Amino acid sequence: MDTFSIRGGTPLYGELHIQGAKNAALPILAATVLAGGSYTLYDVPHLLDIEVMLKILTSLGVQCEHKNSTVHVDTSNLTSCYVPHDLMGQMRSSIFLMGPMLARCGEIILSRPGGCAIGERRINLHYKGLEALGATIIEEEGYIRCQAAQLKGNSIFLDYPSVGATENIMMAAVRAEGETIIYNAAREPEIIDLQNFLNQLGARIRGAGTDTIVISGTQHLYPAEYRIIPDRIVTGTMILASAITKGEVTLTNVEPKHLISLLDLTSQSGVEIESTHDIMKVKTKRNYRAIDRIVTAPYPGFPTDMQAQMMAFLSLAEGCSIMKETVFEGRFRHVTELNRLGADIQIDLNTAFIRGVSKLSGTTVEATDLRAGAALILAGLAAEGETRVTGAHHIDRGYDAIEHQLASLGARITRLTNDPLLSTGI
Ligand code: EPZ
Repeated sequence: MDTFSIRGGTPLYGELHIQGAKNAALPILAATVLAGGSYTLYDVPHLLDIEVMLKILTSLGVQCEHKNSTVHVDTSNLTSCYVPHDLMGQMRSSIFLMGPMLARCGEIILSRPGGCAIGERRINLHYKGLEALGATIIEEEGYIRCQAAQLKGNSIFLDYPSVGATENIMMAAVRAEGETIIYNAAREPEIIDLQNFLNQLGARIRGAGTDTIVISGTQHLYPAEYRIIPDRIVTGTMILASAITKGEVTLTNVEPKHLISLLDLTSQSGVEIESTHDIMKVKTKRNYRAIDRIVTAPYPGFPTDMQAQMMAFLSLAEGCSIMKETVFEGRFRHVTELNRLGADIQIDLNTAFIRGVSKLSGTTVEATDLRAGAALILAGLAAEGETRVTGAHHIDRGYDAIEHQLASLGARITRLTNDPLLSTGI
């Protein structure tokens, strides 16, 4: 169990290239089973979740290689339709294999996915969409058995604009007979990236980025090369890392239009950012203002994946902020840890009341999920003294060697492997 040790109080300065988007790369990797052949994907970050996805693909017979943020996969010869239980449980995105495998092989056997402990994380909408396309899905003895002799297009209304369900249905529908329409689809940039990738293979999809996506099925799909979009959540995290340390950081390989809601809020708080094409420069400022009210929402609303990081930033702003989490019912586990660092945050159901304090003080805190861990690192960068963040593996799921990224900007952060403090239970 690795731990990050951070000595706070150092403003960050310098330039950082933003990694490719985890939440675009994961469904796109799953989609490579749709058409047999050799694919090359660029800007794929080295993350635990990506490693697990490549292990799952390997277990299905795919040849995989990942070097220098480039992935080569050959899906010509699939040898299995069974996803090992231990791999399924390691992340939510393993569920993305359902659609593509049903489309390619007509069958897949898997178990319930794992993922960050941020709520129930139901998969009923995935089932609803795939069953509407003609799949039979049976859960028995801890396994999910999915079969479909031939998927057929249909109209599907999503009760909630689920990102994963939208992506799973898109991938299944590209090889279904006829036309599929997804109503109340998720509108995230990662959905657009998946559409662009699938159309590169020869699929016929339109409407991604809106709430209605139309897919015309085809059997003529071919492998391709593709570059993953920048990670908007890592971009937002690094913007706040610059601001919370009162530094001045330039971020390259960014897509400002994917961050409109975040940039509106950081501007309200007084963070000055110069954006040109794919570069953002975060200017330094002495103090930041609280934000009256923030509500997380599906895109283009304020992303739930930035909620914890924004809370860490606002814990040092002047005044009181209110943050309401509407996407996941259990995504406040970072609050107790931020308060251990000296923050003043109260929770009432799905609303957090953040009273800005003048300083945070380092201590040992625990990362309970990916973005909670990122928030604790941000807080540690600003706290006086040393902060130790345990559970580094949570953070490694979404940030590619975050200690190297931050250290390149002057942060005093190191990774402790098997931290002795932990072994003595301190
Ligand atoms: C994706 O998760 C992202 N993960 C999450 O990012 C992100 O927080 C989430 O979308 C929302 O933007 C990936 O893309 C790999 P959802 P996903 O289906 O697809 C409910 C991160 O930190 N729901 O949009 O699982 C669900 O319970 C991760 O990078 C159903 O009720 O999100 C939740 O309350 C965390 N039934 C809400 O919808 C379903 O069948 C949003 O879930 C599916 C979802």
